[in-house]
Amino acid sequence: MEKEVSEVKAAFKEELSTVKNSKDVERLKVLYLGKRGPVQALIPRLGKAPVSERPHLGKLINDLKEEIASLCDAALSGYEEAELSKRLNSEAIDITLPGRRRYEGRKHPLTQILDECISILGSMGFSVQYAPDIDTDYYNYEALNFPANHPARDMQDTFYLTDSLLLRSHTSNTQIHVMENHSPPIRIIAPGSSFRNENISARSHVFFHQIEALHIDQGVSFADLLSTLNEFLSRLFKKEMETRFRPSYFPFVEPGVEPDIRCTVCEGAGCPLCKQTGWLEIGGAGMVHPNVLEKGGIDPERYSGYAWGLGIERLAMLRWNIRDIRLFFENDMRFLAQF
Ligand code: DAH
Repeated sequence: MEKEVSEVKAAFKEELSTVKNSKDVERLKVLYLGKRGPVQALIPRLGKAPVSERPHLGKLINDLKEEIASLCDAALSGYEEAELSKRLNSEAIDITLPGRRRYEGRKHPLTQILDECISILGSMGFSVQYAPDIDTDYYNYEALNFPANHPARDMQDTFYLTDSLLLRSHTSNTQIHVMENHSPPIRIIAPGSSFRNENISARSHVFFHQIEALHIDQGVSFADLLSTLNEFLSRLFKKEMETRFRPSYFPFVEPGVEPDIRCTVCEGAGCPLCKQTGWLEIGGAGMVHPNVLEKGGIDPERYSGYAWGLGIERLAMLRWNIRDIRLFFENDMRFLAQF
């Protein structure tokens, strides 16, 4: 049996001399020391040896086991080190590559102009109020004096969620919410999203933003509307803005007007942006209709007020000479990084 032990040892050493990597060593270790391996096969044969020799032979087998294990471990650690350093070398990071550029975060242009509007109007005595984007037909239309069959209620313009719930088509819904919860004097602005079921083009989008203003008190006049809007626009565009007010119709105001500003590109000479008129529309305005005051629980005999709603994208497009409203929502870094 001693002979067999040394044969196994010799065979193992022979094979060990041919291994090429750590995987080979591991395979060899399992082959020799595993349950079906040659070392294990020696053990049942111990029982057949004379009792007096058993301790000696047992020790031989144990020594063989240990030797194989320690030779394998030594070979393994050699290979592993070499393999690791080879891998590290091949995966080495080329620190001469230029780094990836990081963009400095900043506010979206719409947020920038909105913040400016809020700060200017805040300094003029307006506080900020919000109303829900998802609202009822009552707040978006009915309380704003839209007759039941008014075309603006048509499904073409408005995204209805249910028969009575809709995505607000303008920020004017805020007017009623505010009147219900506050009594005059009221002097608020309401910035926010509006939604309309329209074709998306360079000039209009289904999703856009408006800033609504509402001022109600005793003796508020049309002159207050004109002067407030003039002052606000001049401060926003950082120069004396020339405005004009065209008569217009909105059910919730009487009289209603559409404020225009002098074309920001040609300053009135006529150009493609203003379609040669020299003027640009920016929204709607007017004196709050008595019916609307009543719906809001305010006595129209005692109080009067004005309201206006301006398109925020529109203001931003004029301020920065942006020709396509879709740019605001595409999140193209080449566009955003300019602001
Ligand atoms: N809500 C109107 C729209 O989106 C704009 C508007 C017109 C708002 C007149 C007003 C107003 O507050 O008085 O077309």
